[in-house]
Amino acid sequence: MKETPYRIAVNVEWTSKCNARCAMCPRSMIAQPRIMELATFRQTLSRLSPDLAFRVIIAGYGEPTTHPRFDDFVEALRGHPLRFDMATNGSRLDEERLMRMDGLFTGLMISFSSTDPEVYRSVHANLDQAQVMENILLAHRTLKATRLVINLSPTAECLATLPGTVAWFRRHGIDSLHMSPTYYDRAGAIRTDGVPSERDLRAKIRAYGFASQEMAFIPGVGDIIGQWRHNRFKCIPRNTSMLIDAGGNYTYCFNDIRHSHPIGHVSDMSLGEAIALRQAEGPDAAICSQCNLRRRYRPRELARVALSYANGRLKEIRGKSSTRGA
Ligand SMILES: C[S@@+](CC[C@H](N)C(=O)[O-])C[C@H]1O[C@@H](n2cnc3c(N)ncnc32)[C@H](O)[C@@H]1O
Ligand code: SF4
Repeated sequence: MKETPYRIAVNVEWTSKCNARCAMCPRSMIAQPRIMELATFRQTLSRLSPDLAFRVIIAGYGEPTTHPRFDDFVEALRGHPLRFDMATNGSRLDEERLMRMDGLFTGLMISFSSTDPEVYRSVHANLDQAQVMENILLAHRTLKATRLVINLSPTAECLATLPGTVAWFRRHGIDSLHMSPTYYDRAGAIRTDGVPSERDLRAKIRAYGFASQEMAFIPGVGDIIGQWRHNRFKCIPRNTSMLIDAGGNYTYCFNDIRHSHPIGHVSDMSLGEAIALRQAEGPDAAICSQCNLRRRYRPRELARVALSYANGRLKEIRGKSSTRGA
């Protein structure tokens, strides 16, 4: 029998430092932002296998493209059997980097708020909007084997300027637009009064034909059932993924932005052992009591997500069979 009878997404934080100050990201809660060592990353890679993880997202809470050994980290992925994706704010991409990444990553997800300069400045503070938009178009032209995905920020200002933003992407042939149906409060670290409700976000996702970001964490129905059965605490957002932070620690929950509850270190423990330890843990009183996801996935919500997952799979299957017939 497998060590863990289901798979999860793994999120690896190359650095918890960032060149932006995004309005929706309370990174100031990270007491000592740090940079992962290459040896720690190699150790992390040796812990990741397809029977435990269905995808690895390079992101965490910092900006991976600011890592001083970015190229070495990208090269370290070569030959690894897992699927890798990266989330970036798009500010530090150039042709050489994009060519190096092409094919090594399945998806490059660039976070973007709005084509309105004022809104962009207020959400993605510290970044140069014109440069990011130029880099997005460069990525669209350069990437041949890696899929470019745009992660649209779920803030109220962004929703207000969505028509212009979406029109710009579609005019340039960029159709893979994703949005999170949730504005995360990161276990109480950020205020959420005035932010769009889940209902509003889901309505926008439907109206514009976006992909819902939560689907990216569902490997298959069997895995979700396995996660549910084996975890004492039935928190779906926690149980679907494991953040390995820039220090090389397995963590209790991605949404614990303070990184206050490490489970163990990649140099001492396999991913399977970390998952098993976490499975046995209940809610963390200090973080879970403040989290806006705690009671999110009740039966009605689960049914909605299951339906939307089934629709997505159906579209995929239909897409494949029509390509085959062409
Ligand atoms: C945490 S960032 C880190 C990676 C990278 N620096 C970036 O900007 O993409 C990853 C993604 O989370 C999204 N995000 C950040 N804070 C959020 C929040 N409070 N609620 C929902 N999504 C959020 C960002 O828009 C981005 O797409
Ligand atoms: S309730 Fe706790 S475990 Fe679940 S997402 Fe929130 S912080 Fe994480």
